[in-house]
Amino acid sequence: MFIDSKNILLDSDPVLRKKAINVSVPLSDEDKKILQAMLEYVRNSQDEKFCEEHNVRPSVGIAAPQIGVSKKMLAISIKNEGNQPLEFALVNPKIITNSTKKACLENGESCLSVATDVEGVVLRYYRITVRAYNLLTDQIEEIKLKGYPAIVMQHEIDHLKGILYYDHINEIDPWHKPEDAISI
Ligand code: NI
Repeated sequence: MFIDSKNILLDSDPVLRKKAINVSVPLSDEDKKILQAMLEYVRNSQDEKFCEEHNVRPSVGIAAPQIGVSKKMLAISIKNEGNQPLEFALVNPKIITNSTKKACLENGESCLSVATDVEGVVLRYYRITVRAYNLLTDQIEEIKLKGYPAIVMQHEIDHLKGILYYDHINEIDPWHKPEDAISI
């Protein structure tokens, strides 16, 4: 299985507004292939040449509903400076704890399924703990994240609930940021 930009659904598609269903673990061969292809897509999208050849936008994460599969699966690949990439291929992820402290990306968020960026503050939890089955380790894990990776994770988990990032933006004052929220 190979995911191309043609496979990415835009926010006009009702699948992106549906609640995704739980996936049985251990994964079926089909689910495994889909999730592996999702991670591969995110990795490839960070290669400039691949993006040009396949008309793909750079990304750090993808959720299964974005390719029309309404199942609780997501893939993330974030490049740390100099270090190994931080990667997850998660099934049935659930935020089990969160900080009261909030954070947001100072330039706002974007999404493969939103053709034109919607500008504004998207408030997220600064720290989260996520419980999920991780295909990369073949284990159910409790993953602690803070800052940027925590924001990416919340963006992808939102997709599994039919929520898009711009749903969080204040319509009247899009760039309003609470004083105690951390800009990243
Ligand atoms: Ni997205």
